[in-house]
Amino acid sequence: METLSHFGIHFTISLCIWCVVVCSAAALASGSSYLVDDSGGLGPRFDGIGGISGGGATSRLLVSYPDPERSQILDYLFSPNFGAALHILKVEMGGDAESGIGTEPSHMHSPDDENYQRGYEWWLMKEAKKRNPNIKLYALPWGWPGWVGNYTNSPYTDIKQAIGYVMKWLQGAKTVHGLTIDYLGIWNERAYNKDYIKQLRQTLDSSGMMGTQIVAADGGAYGGQAISKDILDDKDLAKAVEILGFHYPGTYVTKYTTETRKTLWSSEDYSTKNDNIGAGCLARILNRNYVNGNITSTISWNLIASYYGSLPYDRCGLMTAREPWSGNYAVEGPIWVTAHTTQFTLPGWKYYLRGSGAGHLDQGGSYVSLTDGKNFTIIIETMTRDHSKCIRPFLPPYTVKTQTASFTLKGMFASVKSLNVFYSKPGYGGNSSVYFMKKSPVQVVNGQFNLTLDPDEIYTLTTQAVGMKGKYPDPPQTKPFPTMYTDNFDEYPIYSEASYFTDQAGCFEIRDSGNISHNLVMQQVATSFPVNWCIDAHHPISVIGNHTWRNVSFSIDVHVLPSSGAILALRVNAGGCGAAGSEGIYFWLGGSGKYNVTTDMEGRDVVKSGTAPMIGHTWSTVQLTVIGREAKGSVNGVEVFDWVNIPTVLPHHGWIAIGTPDYSAAQFDNYAIHSAS
Ligand SMILES: *[C@@H]1O[C@H](CO)[C@@H](O)[C@H](O)[C@H]1NC(C)=O
Ligand SMILES: *[C@@H]1O[C@H](CO)[C@@H](O)[C@H](O)[C@H]1NC(C)=O
Ligand SMILES: *[C@@H]1O[C@H](CO)[C@@H](O)[C@H](O)[C@H]1NC(C)=O
Ligand SMILES: *[C@@H]1O[C@H](CO)[C@@H](O)[C@H](O)[C@H]1NC(C)=O
Ligand SMILES: *[C@@H]1O[C@H](CO)[C@@H](O)[C@H](O)[C@H]1NC(C)=O
Ligand SMILES: *[C@@H]1O[C@H](CO)[C@@H](O)[C@H](O)[C@H]1NC(C)=O
Ligand SMILES: *[C@@H]1O[C@H](CO)[C@@H](O)[C@H](O)[C@H]1NC(C)=O
Ligand SMILES: *[C@@H]1O[C@H](CO)[C@@H](O)[C@H](O)[C@H]1NC(C)=O
Ligand SMILES: *[C@@H]1O[C@H](CO)[C@@H](O)[C@H](O)[C@H]1NC(C)=O
Repeated sequence: METLSHFGIHFTISLCIWCVVVCSAAALASGSSYLVDDSGGLGPRFDGIGGISGGGATSRLLVSYPDPERSQILDYLFSPNFGAALHILKVEMGGDAESGIGTEPSHMHSPDDENYQRGYEWWLMKEAKKRNPNIKLYALPWGWPGWVGNYTNSPYTDIKQAIGYVMKWLQGAKTVHGLTIDYLGIWNERAYNKDYIKQLRQTLDSSGMMGTQIVAADGGAYGGQAISKDILDDKDLAKAVEILGFHYPGTYVTKYTTETRKTLWSSEDYSTKNDNIGAGCLARILNRNYVNGNITSTISWNLIASYYGSLPYDRCGLMTAREPWSGNYAVEGPIWVTAHTTQFTLPGWKYYLRGSGAGHLDQGGSYVSLTDGKNFTIIIETMTRDHSKCIRPFLPPYTVKTQTASFTLKGMFASVKSLNVFYSKPGYGGNSSVYFMKKSPVQVVNGQFNLTLDPDEIYTLTTQAVGMKGKYPDPPQTKPFPTMYTDNFDEYPIYSEASYFTDQAGCFEIRDSGNISHNLVMQQVATSFPVNWCIDAHHPISVIGNHTWRNVSFSIDVHVLPSSGAILALRVNAGGCGAAGSEGIYFWLGGSGKYNVTTDMEGRDVVKSGTAPMIGHTWSTVQLTVIGREAKGSVNGVEVFDWVNIPTVLPHHGWIAIGTPDYSAAQFDNYAIHSAS
């Protein structure tokens, strides 16, 4: 009995152990085989992975970073074999219009103006080319200066004029900066015009820019369908458009789109906070845009989250760099997710056909294979749905399970003996993350290898010997914007933008005042309300500082026309496409001696008005102070208003702003911030 019962217990325990090992293995790790074979031909050309600077002012703070941090950040983005190693840089052609986070300067503020030193996109393109001479450049406008289209708020009212404007930018890129633009878009997420596209193609050809390919039409899913139908119906349009570019396609395209037989790009995608879910989003779409949509290039908006965190789309870049005053920046997961593809492929490689090197994994996830005929790379991802949701569109539910995938190589790479391996597993729910870790090579036996894949993993397997997780010493500690700060604008290149100011309407540039007492100044230079992309405020405005600031004193020297004036504001609470609707305390000072105070950006809610010292034509120092529920304004030390009992419904905190009541050329100099936080 004793022995029997002993055996009985032993048997039960053994059965349980056996069951834990075998049953769970069977339940978790189901095996499937995948063929990677080029003998039936290869798929479409891979066009590269990119990032967007612009749409708008997304790299605004980057240009103000100190070195070596600035150069390190650029290496993480562009240097081959170091970080994201991007293949494509897409930039905004500034239009003096609000394009999402801020405005970017136009190369032609007015029809008779032309300048190619403005903003930071030229600089960024050159820094990218310095690091990777083969990086492809892609440009398109969001908004346009008002004069394009004859002040009708459409660039297509005068197509020749709009094309002339774009051609000037391309020629400026070439002659002033030595930059050749590889791809040219139409009008970001706005109407396209068939005649515009056809005439643009003709003009590019007749100007020796045959190599610049047109991408149309950078619209959303429905826009994508419209351009596809138009291309099917119009042979000349089909000839003019080289690439169909869609935004946020959710990895799928329509039947019409496929029928065009055009090269398909997700020319703007991602737009998700760069945490581990953002990394998961990117890993999923980089593979599945091809697997589901036959899409051969994916471009992330945005390249780098280099704008104040309180502006819209906080951290929706591949990495974050929004503290030029401290030098702090963060290299985030999306950089390494991008590296999984970019460090082991190049534009011009070919995808394997779906079904023989690319597809879905049976237990969830996807794989793609690419080759240049000499080297070979497979990227596998098993991102779960909840860990890979992008900001848009809606992602339907699906499941991912642990699985064993058995890959069989046939054709060109059948005799490969081993593959180098890079591995990532973003951590969720407090689990730690692994990004871009080099693992020991996988042995390939008779053209076959097996991988056990857990959910939320990313693998690159490659014949390439390259691949590096670049690393610089940790950047300086994070610090808030200084509470005491001054600038006289004298240290900037002319036409650049003053550090930390982020234009939200109009355009502010460093200019020579022509007065030796003032030297370089900040000047509002946009000449009219733009052909807008979203909602522009009717008054040029630029914000600076910390959105959490409550009690602030701000002073600045202004030089305005008698017919115009200047605006100083505190507690400005909204930016981006919401800037026009922002509240705050706005001090409007007319050049001819009239003032008012409003609580809204558009100047409708007037709470005080009266006469003030005349400031037109002379330099004057204007000061605005808001402490608790009291606001005071002065000119040259003379108090203009004192507003006690500011209603509590008004913003309790916000940015500092300067502006002009119309699109005139006001100048600003010598500002001083004193914030008691
Ligand atoms: C532009 O506007 C002016 C003034 O209204 C008008 O004379 C001119 O014909 C317009 N040009 C076009 C192309 O619409
Ligand atoms: C995928 O795109 C390529 C051209 O880029 C085309 O040749 C091929 O037929 C497309 N495949 C499908 C299934 O749409
Ligand atoms: C793969 O690419 C490397 C460069 O990364 C090159 O040196 C090597 O020759 C290529 N391999 C083959 C099989 O051609
Ligand atoms: C954390 O990791 C454990 C072990 O791999 C896993 O079982 C768990 O699901 C993970 N948690 C989340 C939230 O993914
Ligand atoms: C992969 O798994 C299959 C099925 O279990 C097995 O037959 C094969 O030997 C394995 N191959 C390698 C290279 O381990
Ligand atoms: C604003 O100040 C808060 C509180 O000091 C700080 O946490 C935040 O990082 C600051 N933001 C900026 C843009 O300086
Ligand atoms: C407020 O003052 C500015 C500057 O003088 C002026 O342009 C604006 O029209 C005034 N607003 C109102 C509502 O009077
Ligand atoms: C130059 O600036 C100084 C100081 O603000 C001022 O006194 C002077 O009038 C200005 N000169 C001219 C010509 O505007
Ligand atoms: C702002 O000033 C008010 C009035 O002096 C004070 O009560 C409040 O604590 C201050 N807030 C901050 C954040 O300094």
